[in-house]
Amino acid sequence: MIKEIINKDNKQVMNEVAKDLIRKYKIDDSFYIADLKILENKINNWKELLPRIEPFYAIKCNPNRGIIKYMIEKGLNFDCASMNELKLVLELGVKNIEDKIIYSHPVKKRKDLKYANDIGVKYTTFDSLSELYKIIETSSNMKCLIRLHVNNPSARIQLGLKYGVHKDEYKSLLDKARELNIEIVGCSFHVGSASNDPTVFFNGISYAKEVFLYCNNLGYNMNILDIGGGFTKENFLDCAKVIDQTLKEDKFWKNKKLIAEPGRYFAEEIFTFVSPIIGSRKRQERNEYWLSDSLYGSYNCIIYDDQIPTYEIVRNPLLDNNFDDKILYETTLFGSTCDSLDKLATIKLPELRNGDFILNNRFGAYTIAGATDFNGINLTNIPIYYINS
Ligand SMILES: Cc1ncc(COP(=O)(O)O)c(C=O)c1O
Repeated sequence: MIKEIINKDNKQVMNEVAKDLIRKYKIDDSFYIADLKILENKINNWKELLPRIEPFYAIKCNPNRGIIKYMIEKGLNFDCASMNELKLVLELGVKNIEDKIIYSHPVKKRKDLKYANDIGVKYTTFDSLSELYKIIETSSNMKCLIRLHVNNPSARIQLGLKYGVHKDEYKSLLDKARELNIEIVGCSFHVGSASNDPTVFFNGISYAKEVFLYCNNLGYNMNILDIGGGFTKENFLDCAKVIDQTLKEDKFWKNKKLIAEPGRYFAEEIFTFVSPIIGSRKRQERNEYWLSDSLYGSYNCIIYDDQIPTYEIVRNPLLDNNFDDKILYETTLFGSTCDSLDKLATIKLPELRNGDFILNNRFGAYTIAGATDFNGINLTNIPIYYINS
């Protein structure tokens, strides 16, 4: 039975949690709250709606050690995209590397490939001849999944613009792979991150079947279908329905290993971000505030992930609080670096003071993962408070 996603909008709850933390620990800089209960709910939802599909969490989305450890305990698998991501999951204790990790990046560095091969990673992806030559030279034990192109203009981040073998390319590439004695065991695709069109999964799976059949004719024993990521809180039910139905209706997929590489679906809602106002200015009718964080920090998601965060206020519980938060002013929020481009939003907010905080919920996907310490400002090493709500 397909259920509603469990966790409701938790802004209010997180606002109270943030206040308690600020009061208790006298916090005066940015911090994250990570709710492991949400992660537990997500894992359970996945198992319920897509029981046949094994999720490999895409570390790139948020390589947070706490959630990765939790996922290891829960038996989840991992999609790593680099040597450092491989090292991270190893350090955190992942066992059975062969089964638990896929090195899912179609274009890898030679030394990263060699490292992956040496530690026993078994599966990787490719979408070019150049990658196949690299695999022969560095990682001959590896088995390959051909990454297929899926067109999806509805996705917020269209990965098809960069990766995936087109329909008029796969035959010659696979013929060549056969000649080179590369072991091909499956297909992967990614419909783009934050997809808005569940039916693209049908297109991806149909394309994969065509390629499976071609490969079987070449003498390959094709066994793995990797349906990538693209899931969000909003699209998960619909995507799960399309995927489940497509795979169930066609006996072809019956005994195949089915996997996926969700990032955003698991990470996004776990994290709430809280950052203080460190500077203010009034200009005519406009209030201007500087946050401790920046477009170079967690708010890089505005540029790289096309996110439009929502900004809630958290009054500092350690200051006097006699404000009427119903009166709103035109407000500009700046980030903390010297770059004039470092402007986060123009919105309406109540009058704020240095020391009050801004809260962004659903802030765990492609946020801190892309942060830098530009200007020498610490934007990458942000304290995280774990809760289990
Ligand atoms: C190869 C690959 N797998 C999985 C993901 C995770 O995608 P999502 O966060 O949309 O689930 C990405 C995101 O860029 C990716 O490139």
